[in-house]
Amino acid sequence: MTRPEIAVLPVGGMGTRFLPATKSVAKELLPVVDRPLLQYAVDEARAAGISQFVLVTARGKASLADYFDVPGELVRLLEERGKARELAILAETQLPPGAVISTRQQQPLGLGHAVWCARHIVGRRPFAVLLPDEFLHDPAAPCLKQMVEAHARLGGNLVAVMEVPEDQTDRYGIVAPGATHGLVTEVKGLVEKPAPGTAPSRLAVIGRYILQPEVMDILGEGRRGAGGEIQLTDAMAELIGRQPFHALTFTGRRFDCGDKAGHVIANVAIALERPDIAPQLRAWLAANL
Ligand code: G1P
Repeated sequence: MTRPEIAVLPVGGMGTRFLPATKSVAKELLPVVDRPLLQYAVDEARAAGISQFVLVTARGKASLADYFDVPGELVRLLEERGKARELAILAETQLPPGAVISTRQQQPLGLGHAVWCARHIVGRRPFAVLLPDEFLHDPAAPCLKQMVEAHARLGGNLVAVMEVPEDQTDRYGIVAPGATHGLVTEVKGLVEKPAPGTAPSRLAVIGRYILQPEVMDILGEGRRGAGGEIQLTDAMAELIGRQPFHALTFTGRRFDCGDKAGHVIANVAIALERPDIAPQLRAWLAANL
């Protein structure tokens, strides 16, 4: 089974929930402690063997492509000052030349449209999609790595899922489940943002996908779905029955960093794992909660 080697990162969103910060900072560059959300997504993809990255940006978000430049002046300054630790951080986060390709979504027509904007770069091969504002944390078994391993056995299309509360189904793509074996569930249907009480399950798609190129052909038909947008969920639903389609339950920790509270929680949770910060934070929490 062909392993995906390219990942699409839809990063064109306006980030209005994080105004005023997002007036001049792309929401994907907001840090959790000291690493941008985009870097966590890239790290997760690299751990899964992805070597090519497609950024689907938008007007006003050129800083996302700039992020991957080699900061020459900064490197020289750090070298002069003997700052080995900082230089190591830069080296460890640097991608090889040509690994990042950027294209633009010219109009905000939905997630499916954003993915379709990458079709010429992806070509006719399986590809991954990662939504960076879904911060999935499991250093021992990163989500996309688990998916690539499962995909090597299952083939076809694979989405990562987690159970969400019944009253939150209208925030997610929801799976209509078939048979379950361990963490793998057969996908019988997919519905974008069903109203609570009408959802086929509580298994929500959490922003990680391995897809076959045929989904691009369906997206190209441009049909509008929930919210008047071209939905990735609807295009994926059309593949069910034509190609294998499974969901893999993620057992690590998920932080919804598209949400202010989720982003703050992620910062606290990750800071508590950091030996350089945790003692001070723990002491402050103990004294103030
Ligand atoms: C998108 C997808 C949805 C998925 C969600 C995960 O929705 O359309 O199917 O469950 O991401 O975060 P959005 O959050 O962009 O509205």
